[in-house]
Amino acid sequence: MNIPRTIEWITHTETALIPGHIKLIDQTLLPETLEFIETYDIKEIWHAIKTLQVRGAPAIGIAAAMGIAIATQQENEESTDDIISVVDAAVAYLSTSRPTAVNLFWAMERMQKLAHNNSNLSAKELKIRLIKEAMLIRDEDAAMCRAIGEHGAALLKNGDTVLTHCNAGSLATAEFGTALAPIYVAQEQGKKISVYADETRPLLQGSRLTAWELMQAGIDVTLICDNMTAQVMKEGRIDAVMVGADRIAANRDAANKIGTYGVALLAKAHNIPFYVLAPSSTIDMATATGNDIPIEERASEEVTHGFGKSTAPDGVKVYAPAFDVTPAELITAIITENGIREG
Ligand code: MRU
Repeated sequence: MNIPRTIEWITHTETALIPGHIKLIDQTLLPETLEFIETYDIKEIWHAIKTLQVRGAPAIGIAAAMGIAIATQQENEESTDDIISVVDAAVAYLSTSRPTAVNLFWAMERMQKLAHNNSNLSAKELKIRLIKEAMLIRDEDAAMCRAIGEHGAALLKNGDTVLTHCNAGSLATAEFGTALAPIYVAQEQGKKISVYADETRPLLQGSRLTAWELMQAGIDVTLICDNMTAQVMKEGRIDAVMVGADRIAANRDAANKIGTYGVALLAKAHNIPFYVLAPSSTIDMATATGNDIPIEERASEEVTHGFGKSTAPDGVKVYAPAFDVTPAELITAIITENGIREG
């Protein structure tokens, strides 16, 4: 794929992981410019997650894991207990960034457990183990996405057209993506797959990111505004819907970018299969149903000033949930790295 890595740990020498820093694509600048943020600072990672410079459930999990590793590197204390305290503080701090994607909390819990289970190591050894764990979380995500792509590609035949919402592509993960992975794998298999990308108001991840990355990959993509989806389906242009997820509850209800639920209802009305694709790290068995998933609310300016100018009267009341929940009964199948599971 000719899309750069969303996020990675950069080492400064061939042999040592310390010192190192985090490099990530600033997704708020796409598609106009492809620029990277290079940071040693956990506060910049918090800011990057909050402002969607890095976004997408798996990618923010990786960012948080690397953020924890970078926080321990800033610490000059040489006691292992001090490093464990830094990890605990970093987890508490990054937990305040975004509430919905469980991958964020899943990755941080993994880092925190690793720290607490390795209190016998020296401070330096523990710092290195934490960096290795963050890199492993990234690499495992890439492998899970690849497997999702292979399972999902089996559902697509040559000439199919897929509709997607938001961006659940390479940019949202370590590599390949979840919802877009089957399209990349199908392309490798020589199938011609076309995509309709919903624009995804208010922050336009569909038009800014999905359309951009699919074009980079040479996939045929057509951009539509969110309110065109029903008509496009009615015209018989869509064979399948593929979307990602930020958290899948134990009963298989799935939270994803605001607007996904509406797309699922439209798919049902037009008899189009609706697939949710996510790594197993997105499944949260501790959350019983979709009603228990915390839904992030975003600032009103993202709705009123989304296009670089005011598009609403000053002082208008705004409600801006960033995610919605698609009930399990609208989901044809959930596809993880472990395979395809119909409802
Ligand atoms: O607010 P965002 O851009 O982080 O929302 C992202 C989504 O809703 C994605 O569809 C989801 O995280 C899955 S990414 C593989």
